[in-house]
This record gives sequence, C-alpha cells and structure tokens, in this order.
Amino acid sequence: MNYQSYSQCIKGQQLPLAYVDLDMLEQNAQAILQRAGNKPLRIVSKSLRSVDVIKRLLAFSDQFQGVMCFHPDEAAFLADQGLDDLLVAYPSMQVAAIEAACNATKAGKTIVLMVDSAAHVKCIDEVAKRVGVIQPVCMEVDMSTRIPGVYFGVRRSPITKPKQAVSLYNIIRKTNGVKKGGVRLDGVMGYEAQIAGVGDKLPDKHLQNFAVPWLKRYSIPQLTRRRVSVVDALERAGAKLRFVNGGGTGSICSTKNDPSVTEIAVGSGFYSPHLFDYYNEFRYQPAAGFVLEVSRAPGKGYVTCSGGGYIASGGVGREKSPKPYLPEGFELDENEGAGEVQTPLKVSTGFAKPFKAINLTLGDPVFFRHCKAGELCERFNELVLIRNGSIDARCLTYRGQGKSFI
Ligand SMILES: Cc1ncc(COP(=O)(O)O)c(C=O)c1O
Repeated sequence: MNYQSYSQCIKGQQLPLAYVDLDMLEQNAQAILQRAGNKPLRIVSKSLRSVDVIKRLLAFSDQFQGVMCFHPDEAAFLADQGLDDLLVAYPSMQVAAIEAACNATKAGKTIVLMVDSAAHVKCIDEVAKRVGVIQPVCMEVDMSTRIPGVYFGVRRSPITKPKQAVSLYNIIRKTNGVKKGGVRLDGVMGYEAQIAGVGDKLPDKHLQNFAVPWLKRYSIPQLTRRRVSVVDALERAGAKLRFVNGGGTGSICSTKNDPSVTEIAVGSGFYSPHLFDYYNEFRYQPAAGFVLEVSRAPGKGYVTCSGGGYIASGGVGREKSPKPYLPEGFELDENEGAGEVQTPLKVSTGFAKPFKAINLTLGDPVFFRHCKAGELCERFNELVLIRNGSIDARCLTYRGQGKSFI
C-alpha cells in the first residue's frame, strides 16, 4: 500500500495511532516459516506485546508452537489469557512473580522459568516448595564469542562450558527431595544475539558492515559446537531435555542447522521494524507502524508532527529513532530528532520531488516505523489492524490491558 491508500484507510481516525498491516504480517509469517524449514518456531512475545497478535500468529501455522515471554508475571498473565507452553527467557528473583508462575504450573499450565545460576534455582525452589509444585526450568548458556580485543555477543548467562552446565544441573536435581515441590530441568536455551540481532548492511557503517559478516562466520561454528556440547553433557549427566531453544529473527538459517536445537525463537520479523531492514540474508515487510498528524508548518521545507519521540532501547545512537516512512521524502531534523511531544520533519536532501509536490497540510497523517518491534506497543493502548486497504479490527496491546511487566 502507498501513502494515498494508507491515508484513505485511516481517514477519520484519531491520531496518533499504531497499526499492524495484517496482510504484511502474514507475508512475514509465511517467509519466516519458509526460512525455518521444518523446525518449530517459538513466538517471542516481547517483539509483539499484544495477546491478540500472538494468538493470531499461533493460529496461522502449527509450526508456531509456544511463546517466549520476558517475565514470570507476563507468563502468568498469558496463561490467564488462555495461552500455554510459555518459556520465560529471562531470569527473575521476584518472589511474587515466580509465585504467580508456580501457581499457573500447579493449575496445569506449562510455564518454564529461566535460570543460569544457583541463586536463581534456590529462589524458584523455595517458592515451588511453598506452592507445592515441581517447577520446570530452562538453563541459559552463553553464546557469545570472545576474540582478543572483541566481545562479540551479549552479557547474559555466566555458563560457557559443559562442566558449569552439569554442576548447575546437579544443583537443580538436588531440589527434588524430601519436601513436596522443587525444580526440574526441562530445557536449554542458547541465544546467539550477535547473529540474530546485529545487521550486516547498516547505512553509513562501512567498517562495521565489513567486520560483522566476518565475525558472524567465525562465531557460528564456535557457538554451535558449544550448544551441542552443553546439551550432550547434560544428557549424559541424566537430564531429560524436552527442548533446546536457540536463535532469533536474524539467525533462522544458521540456527536451524544446529542439530541440538529443537526450536527457534522468532519475534521481530513479524512486525519487521526498521532495525531489521539491514540484513544481507532477508528483508521482511514493514507490517507495523504509527501515524502522527501534521500539526504545524513552521517554515519552508518543514512540517511538524504531534508526538513521535518513541526512541528504542539499547546502545544509544541515531538509528534508535523512529523513521518517517510515508509519504516518502521526509527525514528527522538532526537538532530536534523525534521529540517528546512534537517531531519536525524536513524534506530529505536529494529527494527528487520538490516540497510542494508532497503537499502535506495541517491535519494530514504521516506514517512512521519504530526501530524495534514490541516497544511500539508500550506507547499505544491499541493497534488498528488493517487488511486489504481497510480497517479490519482493533486489538489491545499489553499496555491497553493495563500491563507493563518490566
Ligand atoms: C532469548 C531470546 N531469544 C530470541 C530473541 C530474538 O527475538 P527477535 O526475533 O524478536 O529478534 C531474543 C531477543 O532479544 C531473546 O532475548
């Protein structure tokens, strides 16, 4: 759809609004399924943050199995919303949240909590014993690559070796004893963020674009060997693993070749925010965005929109700002960027059409894309769902359901 058809579609709607183009969402889902071959895919909730959208994707294909959550409270909430098979991908020491998850486990839901240290196990064990349940946990293994002078990866789990994994497994095993309740190792997760979440053809980052593909090629066989050897060591030590989770949107093709991995996590590729435009291997459709109104015309070559300062998390950089998407030919003003309550846009340098041809007037919509996927939903209560050029439905975001977990 172009600017005219999107504008027609949302005519009369109160702005700002956030939208998901369901046709594009489904095209992305289809493309992701194709890339994954026959590996099951676990849907990453943090990159969607809407129960309705998660449910639509789970219904789209049987290959989408289960949800990867970001907080035990969220998993308990999703269980309450009728979802099941919930893997919490980040450890928590919050007793009330762990208790909510353990209660859902006791009620028959499959919720798996993340651990990477004895302290996590102890904390979950105490709650599980109080609740009277065997709480399944997943052990996270570090997948980063260390080269002298370069740390290629993220700071997550301290477990880097099979020996460390087996000693944590032995701690987990000992929680099942005299008292009713405890902790059971159910799976392993190794998330190669440096492959899945780092683009390799970023604008104006020539050195990085040269180094990153090389680092990825170096890192993939190394991390694969580590994941395989940890899983092997745990199984030889007696662990009965139900699943081994790995990967993310940007690593589907390499993760699926790891023989130890039984499921791949995927989230961002569905909305495909602009951070995911810069990968050599794929390009998904821009399925989600937000719309601001032009509220001012401060001078020749500029329009100013109301709202828009939705900056993405992570290392600070210009690329974390949202990007004007439609109509084409606008860019953020370097001095002001995307502002707290207003966002000036200027005609892009070198844009072919003269400003007049774009012809935006006060009240007109401007379509933007967020840098990251799920964070958009922290700014809006609902998503307008577009299909075939018209509004098909609306659905609530987590925020719209009064939920903010982190
Ligand atoms: C554990 C884990 N797996 C997978 C992903 C990938 O998610 P996405 O496909 O949204 O990039 C993430 C994202 O941070 C993650 O933390």
